[in-house]
Amino acid sequence: MFVGVAGSAAAQQTDSLRRAFSERFDIGTALAARQLVPPDRATLNLVAEQFSVVTPENVMKWSLIHPTPDRYDFVAADALVEFAADNGLKVVGHTLVWHSQCPRWVFQDERGDPISRDALIERMRDHIHTVVGRYRGRVQGWDVVNEAILDDGAWRDTPWRRLIGDDYLDLAFRFAHEADPDTELYYNDFSMTKPGKRRAATGLVERFRRAGVPIHGVGLQGHWGLDYPSEQEIDDALADYSKLGVHVMITELDIDVLPRPDEEQGADVGRGARRTDALDPYRDGLPESVQQTLADRYAACFRLFNRHADAITRVTFWGVDDGQTWHNNWPVPGRTAHSLIFDRQLRPKPAYQAILDTATEPR
Ligand code: XIL
Repeated sequence: MFVGVAGSAAAQQTDSLRRAFSERFDIGTALAARQLVPPDRATLNLVAEQFSVVTPENVMKWSLIHPTPDRYDFVAADALVEFAADNGLKVVGHTLVWHSQCPRWVFQDERGDPISRDALIERMRDHIHTVVGRYRGRVQGWDVVNEAILDDGAWRDTPWRRLIGDDYLDLAFRFAHEADPDTELYYNDFSMTKPGKRRAATGLVERFRRAGVPIHGVGLQGHWGLDYPSEQEIDDALADYSKLGVHVMITELDIDVLPRPDEEQGADVGRGARRTDALDPYRDGLPESVQQTLADRYAACFRLFNRHADAITRVTFWGVDDGQTWHNNWPVPGRTAHSLIFDRQLRPKPAYQAILDTATEPR
């Protein structure tokens, strides 16, 4: 039973995802700053009961934790790490090197000109040592590099790559390992089921292994829809990643039920479109039939995760409840999204029970 949320529907909830899946993999969620500072007790009680690992949704990203050259802001990140320690939850750090939510100054000198390769490497080293070093021994693993590969398998053109070269990934992983030799290091990306990205991501792990660069896992973000990727694609990709012999993780799971504004299926943060009523059909709630379709889709995904549980070490949802999901603002700002398994009042949705039921099915 939850402490401190008596009277809410959540208080009657006695099942627990973390317990149901404890023999298979960790179950995680992402926490936002407003849930941590000041602490949102109802949410945090639910998280402590249902999940075994937490990721900061934003507060460890470069632009939030290191907004200006001489200033770090650890307030919300510290709160997350403390909450986890107090409640016996693990922490996954997210994320050290990414093209998004990284301030422009990182790549520029005082005059606004691009800095040299050596200067950027030094800046990266410093940042990684400061952030990873601060939480040394308290973070199970880090998303070291996020989204460096395009869907076709090519390297993404980012300031990191332009200024340092392809070895910026190697350097990031080596620096993270220096800063905390006992923490796990992950490569994390969306659309990891697409063939080109699969090839490049598995190639990266194999190259790292040959070169002696430490890497312990690959994260499939899992920003998925009701009909993409197909179950076959997910199954094939999980089988492929499982062969690598590193941890396979679903790191940012959410299933978008809203219409897509374009043909894109990936989770590129650069996408965007304006809200229209047609793009925002469920402002007053999700119709029962769609609610059931969402539950079935979540259950189908978990059946696949269960089947690959020997390699999968963690499944993390990208947020606790529908009020939090980033789909309320991406790729169309201001919509009413229903991507997660708890509703805006923190009540479990049918998807919650459907997922729980898969834990007792034979694998
Ligand atoms: C998203 C957050 O959920 C939003 O709050 C923020 O405005 C943008 O970033 N891939 C990632 C995550 O690795 O960090 C992104 O999180 C979603 C896509």
